[in-house]
Formats: sequence, structure tokens, C-alpha cells
Amino acid sequence: MAAYEYETHDYDVVIVGAGGAGLRATLGMAEQGLRTACVTKVFPTRSHTVAAQGGIAASLKNMGPDHWQWHMYDTVKGSDWLGDTDAMEYLAREAPKAVYELEHYGVPFSRTEEGKIYQRPFGGHTTEFGEGPPVQRTCAAADRTGHAILHTLYGQSLKHNAEFYIEYFALDLIMSEDGRCQGVLCWKLDDGTLHLFNAKMVVLATGGYGRAYFSATSAHTCTGDGGGMVARQGLALQDMEFVQFHPTGIYGSGCLITEGARGEGGYLTNSEGERFMERYAPTYKDLASRDVVSRCMTIEIREGRGVGAEKDHIFLHLDHLPPEALAERLPGISESAKIFAGVDLTKEPIPVLPTVHYNMGGIPTNYWGEVLAPTVDDPDRIFPGLMAVGEAGCASVHGANRLGSNSLIDLVVFGRAAAIRAAKVVDPAAPNPEVNKASVEKALDRFDGLRHADGAVPTAELRLEMQKTMQANAAVFRTSEVLKEGCELMDGVAAKMSDLKVTDRSMIWNSDLMETLELTNLMPNALATIVGAEARHESRGAHAHEDFPDRDDNEWRKHTLAEVGDDNEVTLSYRPVHLDPLTAHDEGGIDLAKIAPKARVY
Ligand code: FUM
Repeated sequence: MAAYEYETHDYDVVIVGAGGAGLRATLGMAEQGLRTACVTKVFPTRSHTVAAQGGIAASLKNMGPDHWQWHMYDTVKGSDWLGDTDAMEYLAREAPKAVYELEHYGVPFSRTEEGKIYQRPFGGHTTEFGEGPPVQRTCAAADRTGHAILHTLYGQSLKHNAEFYIEYFALDLIMSEDGRCQGVLCWKLDDGTLHLFNAKMVVLATGGYGRAYFSATSAHTCTGDGGGMVARQGLALQDMEFVQFHPTGIYGSGCLITEGARGEGGYLTNSEGERFMERYAPTYKDLASRDVVSRCMTIEIREGRGVGAEKDHIFLHLDHLPPEALAERLPGISESAKIFAGVDLTKEPIPVLPTVHYNMGGIPTNYWGEVLAPTVDDPDRIFPGLMAVGEAGCASVHGANRLGSNSLIDLVVFGRAAAIRAAKVVDPAAPNPEVNKASVEKALDRFDGLRHADGAVPTAELRLEMQKTMQANAAVFRTSEVLKEGCELMDGVAAKMSDLKVTDRSMIWNSDLMETLELTNLMPNALATIVGAEARHESRGAHAHEDFPDRDDNEWRKHTLAEVGDDNEVTLSYRPVHLDPLTAHDEGGIDLAKIAPKARVY
């Protein structure tokens, strides 16, 4: 047994992660009087939500007609009918309330002439159940919406006395003998001390795992830490094969150029100067759903119509728009285009390429954020003491493909929902049960083993091998051959985890060890992704399988569950999609006929 001392902290709730979802949950829980701690590996306002640009979807109707049911329809269609109907209804109905709350907390939204929150068009957001023109539904603070939200939520959380533990790395969940989450063991990066957070509820808000891939818009901190911790407890991850490629990452750097650019009138061209989206999506063109646009760009490149010396990317034009509009609405990407592509976007197009952006899959939850440990008899079984929200979780509102700006709204709606639920199920008057020492010791042993890992493979080398394999073998288009090869290659990559070499043994600011711990989290996420993708013999949303080009609702309208064993073996099972809404049609809910599966065209 590894001998380490640790300090114990007692709270009602502990939130791991301080992005949009983590902060909204933290604020909501603190507001309701729960003793609330938020543990985060980066300073809250540096969490990856800070990079969210274009905006947050809600049917406020500030720019024209809109309705929560139209938003729900678009989300269902965007998900390619894999999202859970109850969760999608909850998202669309609660969205306006959640945005007005943000406004009242102080988020500095851009304004219309009348002083209302400014909203812009985004891909896949329409009117009249997909029959009308695009809707302006995405509420924006210029193109720095995530930045504005994070700063506001952090300030509000402090005001409500939430306690922050900043630059603490979460090592492992602590479980009671009878299978309930009791807390989380953390490593304080700047002084090397260890801390056990004992809580009645642990909320994982650790973000996605974009860094399992070589080129991603995600920050280097997006290493799927929550998914890794959950997988180590033998719990399943859900729908991991659905990885979103954002159409407009800057060619070379992968830095995000917001979809708001196309919302404000930008368009894509190929080497012939053709606005090719008109051919593929005659109605919504450049504002088709993201997975569709990414595929069309990839086809253009594959068929030899890419731009540049190697014909391997596409142009995004904003140079026809008034420079004043660009300065007012898109100041952030004007800067990014200059820095990362050397382009003055008022004069020239930006070179762009589909880039990994978002993980639709994650830790399975219900729409209150409660983590599920499904069984055959009870596919909705709740795992006690544990919640997951934001990109780490899978509620599932995005199904097989997420609409742009549905991520920020997911963060705040479900962060808020988790707080509402926690206030009901957590009793602040009850003492915290003593933690299971065996679970703590197991976590310490793992930490110590990695700290002293003395194999032959440096962490950075193995991480790169994983990233390149995922990039090549689980891309925008997939085939059985490429996926099968990817599974075999990833087996080999994962096997080398037992031969890792950590050079720095210190406890203080040991980035070598931290990156190794992150790799142990990335790996199960990556394995679940590629194995789930290989098994899914259909095309749906972001999973475009060339050997099975059609969606197959009879066989495959179901969620994938992937358990990743200690030996890196992935075991798959499936659970049903929730088809029932929260509210019956005659009580004001959506007419189910409106959201019945059909061909997904834009
Ligand atoms: O394009 C963007 O601004 C990204 C938004 C999103 O992923 O929701």
C-alpha cells in the first residue's frame, strides 16, 4: 500500500470542473444553501467553455417568430433521432428561462436596437418544424459568448459562497462498499498535497475528450477525465462513437472559426470558386447541420476540388461583409484568422478544414444529470451519489449529432437541473458517512504506480500514437476496414500503457505525471469510441459509415454502452432510446407525429 497523507474535506456536494456546466451547477447548489465545493484543474475562467464563440440557443423570439417546439424538433432532427425525447423536451422548454437567468446574473449579451438579447442564425436551427426559413435563435455576446458566461457564473458562484479548489487534479472517484459514490481524491498541483473530498453528491463536469484526436478545436485540457474516472469504476460510457467535426477549424492550427461566421452571412467555396453547399443542401445551404457540412467539405476535397497547393482544404468567405459588421459581431475570429492563418478576413477568405470539436457521447445520465448504471432489466437505473453534466455527460440531448449553440444551452440547462435535483436528494442536515478506506487506498496505489512508472514508452510518444490513430481511423467518413484496423491499432496502443515511462517523480508541478494521468483518462474514452464505431453498422449523424450508408432505425435506434475493463477490453451492450416526451400533446407537449423519424435533409 502506498503511504501518502491526505487532508479530508467535508461538503454536501463537490463539483469536479469549472466550465459552463460545472459553474452553473456550483452556483445553483450554493444558492440553495448546500455546502458546495468546486474542484478544477485550471482556473475557472480558463476552462474550455471560454473558447465557445457563436452563442447559446433559446427560442426567445427576439428577431422573429420562434417556439420551443421548433427548437425541440430541430434538436431531434439534428440528433438523427438518437436523442432521448424527454431530455430534448426539457432542453428546449427550459432554454429561455436559463438564458434569462444568465442575463439577470449579468452576462453582457449583444443587443438589438430595442435593447433585447441579439440572436443570430446557426446551422440546423429552423422555423415551422423544418419547413420554414432559418431562425435567429442563437443568443450571442459578439463571438465571445462562452467567455462572457464563464466570467459571470464564476463571479456569481463566489458571491454565493461556493468554495473553489483551483489547480487540483481529480485522481479517482471514491466508492462505498455498497456501490455509492462518496467523493473524489485530488492532487493539488502547486504544492503536491493530496485531498479527499467527501460529499453526498459528486458532480462530474469535466468536459469532453477532444484531445484523443490529433487535430481538435478543444483545449489541451480536454482529456475526458470524468469518463476515465467512471470507466475505472466499471461503469459504462454511452454513444462514444459519435464525434463531431466542426466544419471550420483553421487549416493547420485547428483553431475554431465560429459557425456564427456563416450565421452572419459567410459561405464556403471550393477550388472552382463554387458555393458548393447549394448543391448538397439546397434549402439551408451553408447553414445545414454541422455533420452534413463537414461531410460535404470532405467530399469536395476527396473529389479534387479542395483549395491550396495540396488541394486539401476549403475557403470560408467573410470578405463580402461590411468591415463594421465584422468588427461588431465577430471581433474574436477576426483576431484568430489574423494570428493563426495570417488572413485579414475583410479582404481574403479563411482556409478551413473539418476539425474534431465535440463529443456527443459521455457518461450516461437522466435529464437531472443523475448518472445511470443500466442493467438489462433496468436501463435507467440511477447510480447513487454521482451526477455528470455538460460535455462529460450524455443526457442524451445531442444523440448522434449536436446542433451548434446547443452545447452552451446544454451546459446551463443541465447544470441548473443538477442543482435543482441535488437540492431534493441531498440532505444538508445529515452527516457524511465515513469514506471507504479501501477505495482511497486503491486510488493512492494507482497514483503511486504511475508516479513511479519506469517502462520504455514516454507519455508524449504514446499520446501522439493514440491521437494519430484516432484521427486516421475514426474520421468524418468511416469504413469497416478502416475501423477494424483502428481497433487493432488501438489495442496495440493501449497495451503500451503498462510500459509507460514517467521521468519526473516529484509531487509539485509535475506536468509529466499530470499528462500521464490525463492519458489514462483519454485512453478508455478513445477505446470506447473506436470499438463502438466499428460495431455500429449504419450511418447516423456524425457516424458516416460508407459500407452502411443508410440510417437503420429498426436495428440501430439504440444507445451504445461501452465498458472498458482494466485490461482495456471493451464490452458493448445497448439500451433503448427514450421515445416518450415529458408532456403529453393534449397537455401542451409536442405532437409526436411532428418528430417521427424521417429522412434527414436540409
Ligand atoms: O461555432 C461555434 O461557435 C461553436 C458553437 C458550438 O459548438 O455550439
